[in-house]
Amino acid sequence: MISANASHSLDTLLARRAFEFDHANPILADLPKETSETISLAYGDADPRLFPIKELISSVDGLLSEKRDAVLNYAPVDRELTELVARRLQKRGVVVDEQNILITYGSSQILGLLPQIMLNQGDVVIVEGPTFLGAIEYFVTQGATIETIPVGDHGMDIDALADTLQRLAAHGKQAKFIYTIPTHHNPTGTMMPLANRKRLLSLAATYGVLVLEDDAYGDLDFRGEMAASLLTLPGSEWVLHIGTFSKILAPGVRMAWAYGPTPVMQRLRKFQSDQGAGPFITRLVSYIAKDGWLEQHINVLNSAYAYKYATMRDAMAQHFPQDVRVSTPSGGFFVYGYLPLDMPARALIDVAIAHGVSFLPGTVGYANGGGTHEMRLAFSFQSEAHIVEGITRLGEAMRVHRAQG
Ligand SMILES: Cc1ncc(COP(=O)(O)O)c(C=O)c1O
Repeated sequence: MISANASHSLDTLLARRAFEFDHANPILADLPKETSETISLAYGDADPRLFPIKELISSVDGLLSEKRDAVLNYAPVDRELTELVARRLQKRGVVVDEQNILITYGSSQILGLLPQIMLNQGDVVIVEGPTFLGAIEYFVTQGATIETIPVGDHGMDIDALADTLQRLAAHGKQAKFIYTIPTHHNPTGTMMPLANRKRLLSLAATYGVLVLEDDAYGDLDFRGEMAASLLTLPGSEWVLHIGTFSKILAPGVRMAWAYGPTPVMQRLRKFQSDQGAGPFITRLVSYIAKDGWLEQHINVLNSAYAYKYATMRDAMAQHFPQDVRVSTPSGGFFVYGYLPLDMPARALIDVAIAHGVSFLPGTVGYANGGGTHEMRLAFSFQSEAHIVEGITRLGEAMRVHRAQG
């Protein structure tokens, strides 16, 4: 038997980076402690009632009877899925080179891979404040130094971005990439206007910074309209675009895509050791999407989510105190709330949980602090009845919190 030398430890084998991020993320302490009684308005899960169960079952059936050998054996990623992504991008006006499309295991995979190919320890990444919590985690664990640009009613504040880029340049620093969610932003639900999108790309070109456009909610517009992707605007050679089937099919499918400049896509492909996904699931997505079914399904989702948002909007108008300001999204999954000074989100969340409802405190969307009087409410997951009940409970919690002084 080999006996362990006391001076040997697995810890000595681990990279320095593994220890640097060992500690608990303090932001996560602000996540609500929900119970089985809580109506959760905190998380942007898809509505399970909108999952296309019948179509998924018949697609699995069809695939296994028509293409069994091709989908169950070793095989490269399905070309039909790449072609589907290419067609969808072309429909939006993107001039597509199919070689630069990468199928990925969720768009989160790119949020994890991009820092690996771009960042050295301490390199600057610019994010919106607030932004998608998951993205902050991916960037910080890869050693990024985060610069935060505020988000207003029209998305990222482009003047503040210009100031930050200028300040960095004055210190001889160049940001590596700007992470933005210009369409139906998570968490604020805002839209970046076309003029701001153009200015963003002009700044990216001037300072030589990649723009990571996260288009997770690009298809989910209540009126079925699609905003101009940064890929269609002057300066698009600086854009890496990511989109996902998670929101328009089902998150459990974990299928997404990336499209961007050749040198970046080549490196991402190299670092993506798992090919993104297997032949069965990639073919399932292209199979179910065929003959225009996916586009029809997106229309169904848009009407359903529009109705859910309207339900939440009307309930908030009825039950929230007048001085709680809320955003007015035109798509996506979220409403963002701005709380009055006497109502910090961290204190309110405890009262809300006691009333059987939860929200996401704004603080979790900020890499460098902020959001103490902000909250995200998701209308995507709960039924209309639960949305109304949840907002009624939250309005009551706000009044009780105030009365407690
Ligand atoms: C802005 C944003 N980007 C990316 C993701 C992750 O998407 P995926 O399921 O494709 O990994 C989400 C999911 O909530 C999101 O809100």
